[in-house]
Amino acid sequence: MAKTFKVAVLPGDGIGPEVMAEALRVLDVVEQKFDVSFQRTFANVGGIAIDKEGKALPETTIDICKDSDAILFGSVGGPKWESLPPDEQPERGALLPLRKIFGLYANLRPAIIFPALTGASSLKQEVIEGGFNVLVVRELTGGIYFSQPKGIEGEGDERVGVDTMRYTVPEIERIAHVAFKAAQKRDRRLCSIDKANVLSTSVLWREVVEKVARQYPDVALSHMYVDNAAMQLVRWPKQFDVLLCENMFGDILSDEAAMLTGSLGMLPSASLAEGSFGMYEPSGGSAPDIAGQGIANPIAQILSASMMLRHSFAMVAAADAIDTAVERVLDQGLRTGDIFQNQPGERKINTREMGDAIVAAI
Ligand code: NAI
Ligand code: MG
Repeated sequence: MAKTFKVAVLPGDGIGPEVMAEALRVLDVVEQKFDVSFQRTFANVGGIAIDKEGKALPETTIDICKDSDAILFGSVGGPKWESLPPDEQPERGALLPLRKIFGLYANLRPAIIFPALTGASSLKQEVIEGGFNVLVVRELTGGIYFSQPKGIEGEGDERVGVDTMRYTVPEIERIAHVAFKAAQKRDRRLCSIDKANVLSTSVLWREVVEKVARQYPDVALSHMYVDNAAMQLVRWPKQFDVLLCENMFGDILSDEAAMLTGSLGMLPSASLAEGSFGMYEPSGGSAPDIAGQGIANPIAQILSASMMLRHSFAMVAAADAIDTAVERVLDQGLRTGDIFQNQPGERKINTREMGDAIVAAI
């Protein structure tokens, strides 16, 4: 009998439902090709959940996620909800609680520039010739975004803003293990990012990462200060394979790495909990400027589904089949508007046609 996985499907707002539809068609074809069945339960999240159920992350949605093996998430937000108090807005009201409730402590963000798309990058062609593939592993539930004390104290001009950066040894250990394991499946090079010349959390970070490294003798470990890493990413991104970062450094460097590829609509992400549970979503947002037109690039969502198969369901062959299909379709010159550069051999297509092409290639 076919193996069954339960997937909570949270399309969200803007282009979310449009690109999610294509990712689900890709899962359909995976069901036919591989002996597996995906039991999907749809739930509201973000702005649409505010409109229909009164809050960005309703209890019913949390329950559906708890009853699932993984969450496939679209994107949330849009101008309609921007006047709400910050904590009730789609992103803050849904994403942060989801990370917290499900203990999603490891954020994996690949920045891939496909050989067929080097022209879309802001970097010089000789720097990115043949493409590159960097994976940022970002700690997601600790560090300066969460540590106490934090807040604004005092009155008027006497006010003091306080944030605290705090990391425990187990917090560093578990994210380091995720990064080393990821490196083992890639090019076996891990660069740990810190600011050990200034920050105590970074001194501890470096020491713990060194200790964890002894369990992964096949991975080459290096360390780099975050300011240098920001420069090196622009200068010569191919020097990197996996970057291991604490929360804030990873937030910044993963956006920088994404931008080097020149195509936000292409990049997936995974947020992993202890065990096999994870949440998978595009790196970009709900793209209100193009929502409803059927022209968004579904590749980020489709590659997010691929990451779900790889990391939560251990379906490596199926994930590889999706990734290869995406590459093949790009090699054929098929482009949604965001990656179309009017080059010879390119053909501009819409969301649905891109889904069709990837399904056919699988
Ligand atoms: P965005 O990522 O939605 O859009 C930035 C630019 O990239 C836009 O020009 C958009 O058209 C383009 N883009 C993004 N994804 C694309 C795709 N798949 N295909 C083609 N083009 C694509 O970021 P922005 O404009 O800053 O935010 C829009 C809304 O999304 C806001 O409400 C924001 O809060 C929300 N947001 C939600 C996130 C999430 O759900 N995780 C993450 C980032 C933003
Ligand atoms: Mg960010």
